[in-house]
Amino acid sequence: MNLRLLFFFVCLAVLLTLAELKPKKNKKHEHRFDDDHGPHGPHGHHGHRGRHVRHKHDRQRKPSKIDFEEIIQDIFFSILERISDDDDDEDQGNSDWVAELQPLHGQCNPNPCFNNGECEPKGRGKFKCDCPRNFNGRRCEKGRKICKRGTCGRGECVLTSTPPYFECKCKLPFLPPDCRTFAVCNPNPCKNGGTCVRDGNNFECQCSPGYTGNFCQIGPEDCYVDDGESYRGNVSETEKGRECLYWNSHFILDNGVDPLNTYDEEDGLGPHNFCRNLDGDKMPWCFFRRGQKLLWDYCDVSECPEPTDESPTDVEPTDPTDPTTDAPGLQPRPVEPTAAPQPSTTEPTVPEEPTQASQSTAAPTTPDSTTPAPQLFSTCGMAQPKKAITRIISGLKVNPGAIPWQVSLQERPKNSNQAFSHICGGVLIDSCWVLTAGHCVEQNKDLQVVMGGLSLSAEEPTEQTLRVEEAIRHEGYRETSQAAYNDIGLLRLSGSNGVCANETQFVKAACLPDAQLPDGKECTISGWGATEQSDLGSNHLLHANVLLISQDKCSEKGIYGSVLDISMFCAGHLQGGVDSCQGDSGGPLTCKVNDASTVYGLVSWGDQCGRKNKPGVYTRVTEFVDWINSKIKSSTA
Ligand code: ARG
Repeated sequence: MNLRLLFFFVCLAVLLTLAELKPKKNKKHEHRFDDDHGPHGPHGHHGHRGRHVRHKHDRQRKPSKIDFEEIIQDIFFSILERISDDDDDEDQGNSDWVAELQPLHGQCNPNPCFNNGECEPKGRGKFKCDCPRNFNGRRCEKGRKICKRGTCGRGECVLTSTPPYFECKCKLPFLPPDCRTFAVCNPNPCKNGGTCVRDGNNFECQCSPGYTGNFCQIGPEDCYVDDGESYRGNVSETEKGRECLYWNSHFILDNGVDPLNTYDEEDGLGPHNFCRNLDGDKMPWCFFRRGQKLLWDYCDVSECPEPTDESPTDVEPTDPTDPTTDAPGLQPRPVEPTAAPQPSTTEPTVPEEPTQASQSTAAPTTPDSTTPAPQLFSTCGMAQPKKAITRIISGLKVNPGAIPWQVSLQERPKNSNQAFSHICGGVLIDSCWVLTAGHCVEQNKDLQVVMGGLSLSAEEPTEQTLRVEEAIRHEGYRETSQAAYNDIGLLRLSGSNGVCANETQFVKAACLPDAQLPDGKECTISGWGATEQSDLGSNHLLHANVLLISQDKCSEKGIYGSVLDISMFCAGHLQGGVDSCQGDSGGPLTCKVNDASTVYGLVSWGDQCGRKNKPGVYTRVTEFVDWINSKIKSSTA
């Protein structure tokens, strides 16, 4: 071939390739993912860090092209020819293991049926679980998958409360009901007078002045005031342009988060995908999906300009069920207080003023006539958690007030002025008494306990700090290279007349157990200990659910063999994963007994953490109730 001609073709090819690449550069969804707020996102749940101030005039939202290719390449939205009817998914393995662990015979008390199944005794050691809609399995442990993969073609499957219990929210230009066919710009998807501009299968909404958003759904007055708790606007994209998931998306539920069961319309939640601030964060946020991961991020929503003499303009959505409704009527909303979310109205309200948070070195102030008499710890095991939503996925953050008996045991060299540091967990069982692991009881150290807080590093107004006056380790405590026996201790806190800690919404006692609980029961562990992400422990209190494992099962050769004795029991998940770890010791394993949280175990030891067939081992508190009562009695006598 003629060389000059070849050169010409090469140049042409290069130009064509460049032209081909260019539109991709403008792709809306080309993002850096480095600081998304995933499970381990940088922002504390309640970390009100530097306020993020952005006003509407500096919003840089450009109309963006809906990229057809991107939708059809997302395997999450793939169109499957045959939707499998198989309800059993990966969880199946788990429930077999759980069933094996629970040799329950015919007892309906405690109820062996999961997911609110009703138990019916069937005589001769048998029972039957009558499962609620959408659950099945012998113990209603299996959830029927309503939103199976492929159900909604190129769209998001959301759950509804009426048959058929789901709905497809199609990625435009795909069309309802099942998001398998498409029509570009027809009907016009652009709201508020926006024009739909077609480019092949892609389209773009060109909005009337003042309107923004992919579908021009965001009006000129759409902004939030303060922390955006009262925001009811239509923004449904994250700061980095990710589309928000519907709050009733099955994908959120599949990840163990159930926003609609935690919040309701009053909180601004509903079957929509608008950004909200439900839980006292610094501004509206939403969940989004990246691949198969559930993540969250703050939204691309503007803070309202400082009010001049007009009232602030938090906005109402046009129609809560449809983000693209064509009705610009935006109503100013009254500004609501911006404190952390209030407890739900069904729960008794407890005064929330910070209670005496005595400083580390000072003894707690004794009540005098000007301070109201502290409430005594007359009840136990009843938490009054604030409404808050879990935003990390494995190892869940604790909501304020959800585990009010959890304490952090801290030490420093005796009589020094050094800062105290967290060594173990503990459990408040009375105003002046904390239960912990025997191996956490240090005699030659200054000890203090901090309770009512969630963060180890921040001083929280709900926190109470008390010095430990006396640290008692069980006389039978013994440690070998493999195990710790009778691993229990009691800490007497400083105070007077039997008043040490004050009972508040955030500081409460757990109950002591009075009976053995059935194997397989689901209980809760919590602590600031090491996590998959950090050997140093977590700054925010975390919790997880574990199952009680029978002594026989845990004494099998492949598990802990013969090292276990009656002073301990195992709990966890034999397949590995969820477990307590270093730094959690002494903290609670509580189980609900008639709705009250009972300290059934104390975190004690384990062969590393989260390993298959090496569950956590807990001090069996039922064995020590008499010991606990006699120590308390002799000390107050
Ligand atoms: N001994 C540990 C501590 O001092 C607790 C270890 C618990 N281990 C486990 N795999 N559950 O914090």
